[in-house]
Amino acid sequence: MSKDYWENRYVTHDMPWEKGAPSPGLVDFLASHPELPKGTVCVPGCGTGHDVRAWAAAGFDVTGYDIAPSAIKLASEKTQAAGLKAKFAQGNFLHDSPREKYDWVFEHTLFCAIDPSERADYVKAVGRWLKPGGNYLAVNYLIPDEDGPPFGTTRDELLKWFQDDYELLGDWVPRSYPNRTGLERMLWWKKKPSW
Ligand SMILES: C[S@@+](CC[C@H](N)C(=O)[O-])C[C@H]1O[C@@H](n2cnc3c(N)ncnc32)[C@H](O)[C@@H]1O
Repeated sequence: MSKDYWENRYVTHDMPWEKGAPSPGLVDFLASHPELPKGTVCVPGCGTGHDVRAWAAAGFDVTGYDIAPSAIKLASEKTQAAGLKAKFAQGNFLHDSPREKYDWVFEHTLFCAIDPSERADYVKAVGRWLKPGGNYLAVNYLIPDEDGPPFGTTRDELLKWFQDDYELLGDWVPRSYPNRTGLERMLWWKKKPSW
């Protein structure tokens, strides 16, 4: 999907993914892990920034990245209005080179938003944006749809993409928005330091 496609979804207010709140699974993860060092986080496909603000409120140094200029504008405005500090940048996560590598990459409905033919690029991008030993935390949307976005995936497919270069630290069914209950699975991966 092109930059114009996503920008048009924002301009025409065709944003059914916009729930007005961060991923419940992320909220619970952050609340249950106060011990985590407050490192740097990249949230690719950040949309209007609810998840970015959840990481920022928990004390992390977070950057939201999105291909749609309108998403970045809305996310910046909402973050300022909330009195929180976060950085935002417009670009293509799949193909851009990061200015810095991050301790965390947080996924929430970007993997299912891209065309399935771009999944190899997505996996390469996660590796490129993460520091060695960095964490990839994903709220995966496990739906059967083939005519997306959103495009479906399975836990098995995700394990195949990541298991060679990442160690799986956690794998659970999170609390979800009401219309996604039972359709999400969180995977917490650690990039192997040698990679
Ligand atoms: C389904 S929306 C999810 C937004 C947000 N994560 C949420 O859950 O509210 C997908 C988002 O990814 C962005 N996006 C799509 N392809 C992208 C890419 N290649 N690089 C960066 N952002 C992308 C879109 O503009 C859109 O904001």
